[in-house]
Amino acid sequence: MQKTILITGGAGFIGAHVIKRFVQSYPDYLIVNLDKLTYAGNLENVKDVENAPNYQFEKGDITGLDYIRDLFKKYAFDAVIHLAAESHVDRSISNPLLFAHTNVIGTLTLLQVAKENWSNHLDGKLFYHVSTDEVYGSLENEDEFFLETTPYDPRSPYSASKASSDHFVRAYYNTYNLPIVISNCSNNYGAYQFPEKLIPLFINNIIHQKPLPVYGEGLNVRDWLYVEDHASAIDVIFHRGKVGETYNIGGFNEWKNIDLIKLLCKLMDDKLSRPTGTSAQLITYVKDRAGHDLRYAIDATKLNQELGWQPSLQFEEGLSKTIDWYLENKEWLANVTSGEYQKYYEKQYALNERA
Ligand code: NAD
Ligand code: TYD
Repeated sequence: MQKTILITGGAGFIGAHVIKRFVQSYPDYLIVNLDKLTYAGNLENVKDVENAPNYQFEKGDITGLDYIRDLFKKYAFDAVIHLAAESHVDRSISNPLLFAHTNVIGTLTLLQVAKENWSNHLDGKLFYHVSTDEVYGSLENEDEFFLETTPYDPRSPYSASKASSDHFVRAYYNTYNLPIVISNCSNNYGAYQFPEKLIPLFINNIIHQKPLPVYGEGLNVRDWLYVEDHASAIDVIFHRGKVGETYNIGGFNEWKNIDLIKLLCKLMDDKLSRPTGTSAQLITYVKDRAGHDLRYAIDATKLNQELGWQPSLQFEEGLSKTIDWYLENKEWLANVTSGEYQKYYEKQYALNERA
């Protein structure tokens, strides 16, 4: 194998797309997927590659220092692509300590072990940290965008934990010369997203004709990127990004929540052959999220101009493909909403042990 790469959080939403892209595009790389399989991790998400000769799954926790040391001994990784995290803002509001532990201590643990292993031979090594645009805070003026140079101003426990992890990644670059790269991406959507985030939650609720809880007045703005475009950007940055740099990833695709929700309702009515207006009747305005950031908007010019990356899909097309995927994979949705998927790992490993 040309390279051995540790990808963390590969059983989650974005991680699964990154795993599949790397396993399928780079047969010369050994891809090791390390995931704790929390509620957000599901091995069904990477079923397409589970038997590939260049893929290995390891169930484990990024916060376990001795465990991570053993894993580096076992595989001698050349690179890390770090996605494992607690990722949902609402959960961070109810459990901030968990977010600090996983996102900060977990990242620090990986950095420390990478440094211990690579310090005498840094050539060709890379620690790639996958982060979010939420570290930049909330935009108030319509003509403002997040740039790589925008000062950090995190406002939720989730974004504070990601900002802190980004700072540690840069600290290891500045202090120990650890070769790092960071990307900060806008909101993702697409297949395999856990139905607690806006788009899959609302698709699921529309299917079951349950209320659609719109926070506040639905006026908050998010910048949406199709998850496979995020995975393609990670691929480009991993291979051609400059060590020590940050790259913003986004598709200049801002939507006010309520406008997005109305488009989603219309598409769902069409696809489910329900009279136009049926799903919109489910819209229910609820109490706003505490500290709800008003607007995120990424300027991804640097990534486009320096590395030639651009998104492949327009939003309406991506949203339509995403809805189709959820409608074609109702069993996946039913399993994740019932928690059934969490038995998958145990079943797979019981089978392997018997074989
Ligand atoms: P996710 O919640 O779907 O998946 C996270 C994965 O990490 C899960 O498989 C989970 O089991 C695993 N994990 C959690 N704690 C762990 C631990 N202690 N040890 C090992 N594994 C653990 O998240 P996602 O939406 O796929 O996000 C992936 C990364 O991308 C995160 O770092 C997130 O901050 C970042 N990001 C997400 C978005 C988005 O819109 N979802 C946008 C920009 C950046
Ligand atoms: P979410 O998907 O949780 O992503 P983030 O908070 O990281 O941007 O939410 C996207 C937007 O949708 C955000 O402004 C909050 C809003 N939202 C609702 O109005 N209702 C909901 O039930 C959820 C989950 C989100």
